[in-house]
Amino acid sequence: MTTPLLTGIDVGTTKVSVLIADLVDDTHYEILGVGTAPARGMQKGVVVNVGEAKETICEAVAAAERSAGYEIGTAFVSMAGAHVSSVNSHGVVGVSGNRAIAQDDIDRALDAARAIAIPHNREVLHIIPRNFVVDGQEGIRMPLGMHGFRLEVEAHLITAATMTIKNLTQCIEAAGVMVEQFVLNPLAASEAALTDTERDLGVVACDVGGGTTDVAIFIEGNVWHTAVLPVGGNHITADVAHGMRLPADVAEEVKIQHGHACTQEVDDSEVFRVCPFGFEKPIDVSRSELANIIEARSEEIFELLLQEIKRSGYDGLLPAGVVLTGGTAQLAGFRQLATGSLGLPVRVSSPSDMRGLVDQVQGPSFSTVVGLLNWAIRETRYANQAPSNGRHGGNGNYGSNGNSGPGFLSVVGDWAKRLTP
Ligand SMILES: Nc1ncnc2c1ncn2[C@@H]1O[C@H](COP(=O)(O)OP(=O)(O)OP(=O)(O)O)[C@@H](O)[C@H]1O
Ligand SMILES: [Mg+2]
Repeated sequence: MTTPLLTGIDVGTTKVSVLIADLVDDTHYEILGVGTAPARGMQKGVVVNVGEAKETICEAVAAAERSAGYEIGTAFVSMAGAHVSSVNSHGVVGVSGNRAIAQDDIDRALDAARAIAIPHNREVLHIIPRNFVVDGQEGIRMPLGMHGFRLEVEAHLITAATMTIKNLTQCIEAAGVMVEQFVLNPLAASEAALTDTERDLGVVACDVGGGTTDVAIFIEGNVWHTAVLPVGGNHITADVAHGMRLPADVAEEVKIQHGHACTQEVDDSEVFRVCPFGFEKPIDVSRSELANIIEARSEEIFELLLQEIKRSGYDGLLPAGVVLTGGTAQLAGFRQLATGSLGLPVRVSSPSDMRGLVDQVQGPSFSTVVGLLNWAIRETRYANQAPSNGRHGGNGNYGSNGNSGPGFLSVVGDWAKRLTP
């Protein structure tokens, strides 16, 4: 049976997670089905082997469908990778006649903001309004219904490589699922990881996964900067494997069980047993030696993050600090190291406030897939509320995948709604 249930598919570098949920009311959903599969054919957030990626996505989709007892029709799908880039853009339009600003005017202003030169091999994934200016009056979050002659919008434009979008689309379709919308990974993760207060104050959401570190900066309730850095927990595991001469699967286990990101927190006398290449039996290895390896790579991740924060130009506007999520955020000592390296308050966040099959989606590695459902429920709500304006692409996704979504204006109403209590 095909149903209009909400579905989120997070195609990560280490795992594919699929959630199927039923709407309880306008703002709540209940998770009915969960499917996960170890990812194959993915590297640093993008498909590198279509055959393998198709298999693993099919596996996770089938598991979710079995657990929910429903077949998936369409899904909100996460998009990551270093090919994603973002830029802030500006659009201006005139409002003719003595009338209040209508949705169509906002639409035109966003169209104007979108009209910057984009290389032919890239597509706009999202165009998100940050702020409006009406007749020179700045800081307007929702201009609908206001009077004015000149409407300006500051928008955050996110683009992605066309080929990468196509590759992921064909892998999702191979599982019998149509892509309803692609959602940039850091935006999806932020949906589950951040509080409204943090967004309003100014915060960096940082999802440290296996192959990527996804960054989103929110200020005054809205997204002002996004980036996907091509480094994550898999690089830490690779360093451990290399430095300790261990097979990759053993290095992963050792990292999770004995790893620590702050060498100074680890007692020099602590040891664990492991069997490196060249040894026939397990030997004692110092835990602080392991921590040294992990600390070096973790510091590099935070250095890159700090560079990105500085590059955004918003480094002085982040009183709520950094919210870490993603599987690697579970690493012992990771938060302490981040606090020292970044010089900002840091907390670790996991999805909360869920209903249904919540046991299987606990922990920070599920922020993105849960965030996709949070994103989907708002999109669905506004699609139902907003009058149709004949546009396609939803959420500023202006046709990235050719599928229709809720009206483009839904996102304006959506972000504005979040900002106004
Ligand atoms: N308890 C733990 N301690 C330390 N690291 C962990 C723990 N659990 C998982 N990880 C690490 O988290 C990473 C996977 O995180 P996550 O599930 O968020 O990645 P992903 O979404 O598949 O990848 P990406 O978002 O980078 O594409 C792996 O590198 C794994 O080693
Ligand atoms: Mg991820």
